[in-house]
Amino acid sequence: FTAHQLGGDMWLLTALLLWGKLGSERVARRAVITLQPPWVSVFQDEQVTLLCEGPQRPGDNSTWWFLNGTAIQTLTSKYSITAARVSESGEYRCQTGLSVPSDPVQLEIRRDWLLLQISSRVVTEGEPLTLRCHAWKNKLVYNVLFYQNGKAFQFSPPNSELTIQKTNTSHNGVYHCSGMGRHHYTSGGVTVTVKELFSVPVLRASLSLPLLEGNLVTLSCETTLLPERAGLQLYYSFYVGSKTLVDRNASSEYQILTARREDSGSYWCEAVTEDGNVLKRSPALELQVLGLQLPTPVWFNILFYLSVGIIFLVNTVLCVMIHKELQRKKKWNLEVSLASDSGKKVTSHLQKDRYLEEEVNCLEQQEQPQEKWQLRGGHRSGLPLSLPLYGSTEAQTPKS
Ligand SMILES: *[C@@H]1O[C@H](CO)[C@@H](O)[C@H](O)[C@H]1NC(C)=O
Ligand SMILES: *[C@@H]1O[C@H](CO)[C@@H](O)[C@H](O)[C@H]1NC(C)=O
Ligand SMILES: *[C@@H]1O[C@H](CO)[C@@H](O)[C@H](O)[C@H]1NC(C)=O
Ligand SMILES: *[C@@H]1O[C@H](CO)[C@@H](O)[C@H](O)[C@H]1NC(C)=O
Repeated sequence: FTAHQLGGDMWLLTALLLWGKLGSERVARRAVITLQPPWVSVFQDEQVTLLCEGPQRPGDNSTWWFLNGTAIQTLTSKYSITAARVSESGEYRCQTGLSVPSDPVQLEIRRDWLLLQISSRVVTEGEPLTLRCHAWKNKLVYNVLFYQNGKAFQFSPPNSELTIQKTNTSHNGVYHCSGMGRHHYTSGGVTVTVKELFSVPVLRASLSLPLLEGNLVTLSCETTLLPERAGLQLYYSFYVGSKTLVDRNASSEYQILTARREDSGSYWCEAVTEDGNVLKRSPALELQVLGLQLPTPVWFNILFYLSVGIIFLVNTVLCVMIHKELQRKKKWNLEVSLASDSGKKVTSHLQKDRYLEEEVNCLEQQEQPQEKWQLRGGHRSGLPLSLPLYGSTEAQTPKS
């Protein structure tokens, strides 16, 4: 080996060790306290045991306990309180050889008639929570009621437990209980905090909407995990309307490779934990895919109808003018026919005649068939019909 190679290997080794150390501390190397019985509050003189679980150094089973941040002279993983005293209330933590200190457990030792006991003051949504209305010296109480934020929510037999299997944020609040013994008793209040495991997902598109036909678009189901659970794997489902596109895939993305107009619709996604205990649905995302033909803008429509209107107006004016002109010509023709009997001249104005006939068609609706015949008769007479249709007709009209 050259010195350089050796140096490189050393660096790699150090990096691996460091990475391993950091990794191990980050991933679940936190000590955990469990209570036996599971209640975070007990009456004075009752018994409670705290158990600490965490990774140990080989050959050293030492566990450190802390109350309100001060070390307690105990090195076993079990910390027993046989007859609890009020002064032993406080915040307990433990630590083992290879662990970071545990989350605190707030233990409360009370003197009272009735005690609302809970299994945990802080739970992550989806986890169970157990409540118990417990009477001093286990005396019998009747008509036990549990309350959340002052509102009764469960009627149950005396001293019985109540378990919420899957907590959610609606279970946040202050709980207490009441019951009848020799008197009517009411417990003190206990605050329960339910932490959101992950936020309500939001479905986002990689392109701005509306889409165009042929676009490649990625839909992402975005959610934020609780920092303590950052490594948790969630599963994602994608839907359009009531149709399932993807059912519980580890990928939080869904791709539409080439968007078509039929892909338009109401999309939404769902994020769920592996055990299915926490499931959240996103609001709908309206996805519209437009065809490649751009929609006609408003100004185009206005212009179109305006031009149609103008053409119609001009046509009407022309028709009226032709009609008037024809009336005059007809009168004049008849007069001329009567005057001159020798109308056998071959017309050189055939083109014009035919043109006139076409123009006349636009008046057929209004013209009486007889009038039309008369008009044709006029033509047949072979008289030239020099019709200055669009010019000033006054000059050519013979004066009667
Ligand atoms: C540590 O605990 C284990 C089992 O809990 C036991 O077998 C072992 O003897 C203990 N070691 C020491 C050094 O106390
Ligand atoms: C620990 O702190 C709590 C409140 O912060 C206090 O009520 C309790 O008496 C303390 N316990 C001890 C043993 O000092
Ligand atoms: C919370 O859980 C209760 C059942 O324990 C259920 O009725 C309620 O709809 C849930 N709330 C939410 C926001 O999921
Ligand atoms: C599920 O996710 C994997 C990646 O996590 C991906 O390769 C696969 O195509 C997905 N399946 C479906 C049906 O989308």
